[in-house]
Amino acid sequence: MWSNHVLMTNRHLLGIQGLNPPAITSLLDLAENYVLLNRSGKTQRDLLRGRTLINLFFEDSTRTRTSFELAGKRLGADVINMSVSTSSVTKGETLLDTAATLNAMNCDLLVVRHSQSGAPALLAQKVEASVINAGDGTHEHPTQALLDALTIRRRKGRLDGLTIAICGDIAHSRVARSNMLLLSMMGNHVRVIAPPTLMPAQIGSLGVTPYNDMVEGLKGADIVMALRLQKERMNKGLIPSEREFFAFYGLNAEKLAYAKPDALVMHPGPMNRGVEIDSAVADDPARSVIKEQVEMGVAVRMAVLDMLAREGI
Ligand code: NCD
Repeated sequence: MWSNHVLMTNRHLLGIQGLNPPAITSLLDLAENYVLLNRSGKTQRDLLRGRTLINLFFEDSTRTRTSFELAGKRLGADVINMSVSTSSVTKGETLLDTAATLNAMNCDLLVVRHSQSGAPALLAQKVEASVINAGDGTHEHPTQALLDALTIRRRKGRLDGLTIAICGDIAHSRVARSNMLLLSMMGNHVRVIAPPTLMPAQIGSLGVTPYNDMVEGLKGADIVMALRLQKERMNKGLIPSEREFFAFYGLNAEKLAYAKPDALVMHPGPMNRGVEIDSAVADDPARSVIKEQVEMGVAVRMAVLDMLAREGI
């Protein structure tokens, strides 16, 4: 389990960039244990006893914040949720002053979500706590990619040699970015499918195959991952209308039929039904693993907290 002993250890988890395949594999192996523990109802309440975890969310979140809270509590940490709308940030305090305040409280683990790419990395230089990036702008969302990887590995029995199609708003999605990095690093064929206006300009350098045509991109895929239109990060006019987007890029049964017959459907949430995904596909128990992704999220975050608190990743 601790095969990462020999690897360079990171005190923070700021992105998939900076990790390597053996570190990812040991983290997922540890997370597997937490899946079993969570299912058995027995958790390790002593592991992080006396440690403090602060959830610092400058952007909205349902799954990520709740699962970090659950993960911290299941491991025995004292968990504090700082909601920015009720904090002094609304009174004009800078990110670094907020960081200095949290630092003075001797917190051990700081989970940060921020609309600016790079904000968690900046905080990591200023606080003594281990910083975990829970999503920064369009940059990275490493624990989402790790929970997606765990879901895929459990369902497909491996995490290499698979054809994985990520569809939708690739340009503004930190989930897409972290998944591209992780899944290609592990030896999968990653395709990204988007209209030209939602495809990142530098896609050629990311080691993935871009498609503008959904049917072409889905052909023979083992995994199809749909992503929300990140309107909060978009300049206007990138898509003609949601209706048109759904017609060309919305994942429905008809388009899914081009993927492998046993292809799995994934979505990080929150879903916009009828925009990037059709309910008939999202709710199909034979294909959709969306609820399982949420379950894996708790286990992966427990593994991340465990490793960072004890050894580093
Ligand atoms: C994602 C995020 O915040 O980047 N959500 C999540 O953490 N599950 C995706 C999104 O907001 O669309």
